[in-house]
Amino acid sequence: MRSCQRFSDISISERILNSFFLLSIAIGYLFSLGQIYFSHQGRDGNPGISVADIAIAYHGSPEQTRLAAAINGPMAGNLKSAADKTVILDWIESGAQPAIYEAQVAPILQRDCQICHSPASGMRVPPLTSYEQVVKLTEADRGASIPSLIRVSHIHLFGIAFILYMVGKLFVLCEIPVWLKRLTIGLPFLGMLTDIFAWYLTRETPSFAYLLVISGALMGLSLNFQVLLSLYQMWIPLHWPSNRTEPND
Ligand code: HEC
Repeated sequence: MRSCQRFSDISISERILNSFFLLSIAIGYLFSLGQIYFSHQGRDGNPGISVADIAIAYHGSPEQTRLAAAINGPMAGNLKSAADKTVILDWIESGAQPAIYEAQVAPILQRDCQICHSPASGMRVPPLTSYEQVVKLTEADRGASIPSLIRVSHIHLFGIAFILYMVGKLFVLCEIPVWLKRLTIGLPFLGMLTDIFAWYLTRETPSFAYLLVISGALMGLSLNFQVLLSLYQMWIPLHWPSNRTEPND
């Protein structure tokens, strides 16, 4: 039988290269959790992140408007005071009239939001510089649009598939029962594909947010299991045959 390469067969230089790659992926993963937290927390009006926040992000929330969802959630930190949030929410509640907008809401938006939400900023976010623009965001929150989901899907598939492939290529060098290896090697891909599929399902039916969260967690757990076990077996010579010679590189 042809023998397969193991971590014990690779040089120190390769181990250093592999380790920095795997460490960068693990740290990148932590930042992506932070990114999920900050883009979705508080959407349901309660602080912190929950499955309900994820459901609102994809399905929308018919009783909430996009503007209210933003200032309750990811945009809350940009407001100087909680009283300003109440002013904006009350304005939406009372029918988003132009007179109150000019007197009370416009100054807040100008001070706290227009650094980013204006044509001058060059950012791809809706401008909040006129009544007409702002009032459009006070219609019911319909969740993520199909074009935006398609855009993020292709970025995720191309980007994450590469990461999973590279990490998986290293993970096959581990010394573990072959059934466990065969099972673990496919899991991150299954998790990623199910997760992306679940975005579209959640957009239609909010309870699919559970599938979305579970498949995302499955991807994260199996990916990080591969990273940690690879790092461990690469440096701790538990499984290395004692009579072999180090590749001198
Ligand atoms: C530092 C830049 C920045 C500031 C300041 C900022 N925003 Fe945003 N805003 C963004 C970015 C970037 C996005 C898109 C990413 C996202 O949805 O998280 C966004 C998204 C939004 C959306 C969602 C638009 C949609 O398509 O549904 C709303 C509404 C919004 N912001 C309102 C506000 C309000 C109100 C303020 C002021 C209290 C504010 N933002 C301040 C950068 C900013």
